[in-house]
Amino acid sequence: MSKPASFTSALALGEAPSSARSKPRVIVTGGSGKLGRATVQYLANEGWEVISVDLRRPAGISEDGKSGLGGAYRLVEIDLEDMGSVLETFHSTDMAYSGIQAVVHLAAIPSPGQTSASRQFRTNTMGWVFVHYTASSTYTGTDSGSSTYNVLEACRKLKIKNVVLASSETLIGIPFDPHPPAFLPMTEEHERRPESAYSLSKLMGETMAEQYTRWDPELKIVSLRFSNVMLPQEYATFEGWQGDAKARYWNCWGYIDARDGAQSVALSLKSKQTGHHQYLIAAEDTCMRMSNDELVKAVFPDVKYTPTAGPNDSLLSIEKAKKELGFKPAYKWQDQVGK
Ligand SMILES: NC(=O)c1ccc[n+]([C@@H]2O[C@H](COP(=O)([O-])OP(=O)(O)OC[C@H]3O[C@@H](n4cnc5c(N)ncnc54)[C@H](O)[C@@H]3O)[C@@H](O)[C@H]2O)c1
Repeated sequence: MSKPASFTSALALGEAPSSARSKPRVIVTGGSGKLGRATVQYLANEGWEVISVDLRRPAGISEDGKSGLGGAYRLVEIDLEDMGSVLETFHSTDMAYSGIQAVVHLAAIPSPGQTSASRQFRTNTMGWVFVHYTASSTYTGTDSGSSTYNVLEACRKLKIKNVVLASSETLIGIPFDPHPPAFLPMTEEHERRPESAYSLSKLMGETMAEQYTRWDPELKIVSLRFSNVMLPQEYATFEGWQGDAKARYWNCWGYIDARDGAQSVALSLKSKQTGHHQYLIAAEDTCMRMSNDELVKAVFPDVKYTPTAGPNDSLLSIEKAKKELGFKPAYKWQDQVGK
């Protein structure tokens, strides 16, 4: 039997002929998560072919795993703890794709207090996983963390030079109790001061990024220190914090809409820089109606405070991200409540 005229070995592996594939390809780890879903959608809209990599499937996915992915071309279900799977997935997945131009690493246990401190540090830094099963052994979800080392090392081995890491606002010294910030508004110049295993794991991520970019001068790693990520439906809870300066002082009253977090990822991927770069990523405003003067006077009266231009401008400065990445948050909580 003769082969169909269009048959090629590339097509046999599911890979479109290179002339037909114009989109750059990016892996988003943690693509089924809160920030991951927004990022997958944003990057797909920006023209990336997105491979979402996660331990779990997002809600709404089809049985064959090819549609309902919120814009991703494929979901590849692996455990980032397993270096073999990471290397293989970053290289190719037989019927779906081969060759990756960029990696966005979001997967992690995303906040302190969800597991023991030592487990959190280990999972977010080196990779280690625990999975819940019901009595009938049905898979119900995971509390696993990420593997920043595996991700960075796989990128080095495969010569992927465009990398974005989810860092965290917690590095600035959250929860500021008993140690208040050295100055406000907070900037990237502030000493990194992890106060939890979670935050220490993010410091390890940034420290590894510093060394990996020293080893390879062509490599770019952008560490985005996200503030507290919010979905549109969460803005309703903001009302309950108003009038109480102490309700959200622990992160300098910051937040970031998941869609704006995704915008900062897209801009980081586009950036032509090399080396390691860190940015605070927050909304333009605080989560409060009380003015910054009132908030700072009530909670941090002895902290060196340079008044912001607007009374509610973010106290987590995003000037560096605006200047160097072109970041421009589109969402403010007061415009979003009730939408
Ligand atoms: N949510 C926030 O307020 C916040 C604030 C600052 C920084 N961050 C950081 O942003 C990133 C994303 O946070 P999020 O809120 O979307 O978290 P999330 O828990 O909603 O999503 C994390 C995803 O990572 C996946 N994952 C975890 N371990 C994995 C493994 N070993 N292999 C494969 N997949 C794995 C999970 O299944 C999950 O889908 C995290 O790195 C987090 O630390 C989040």
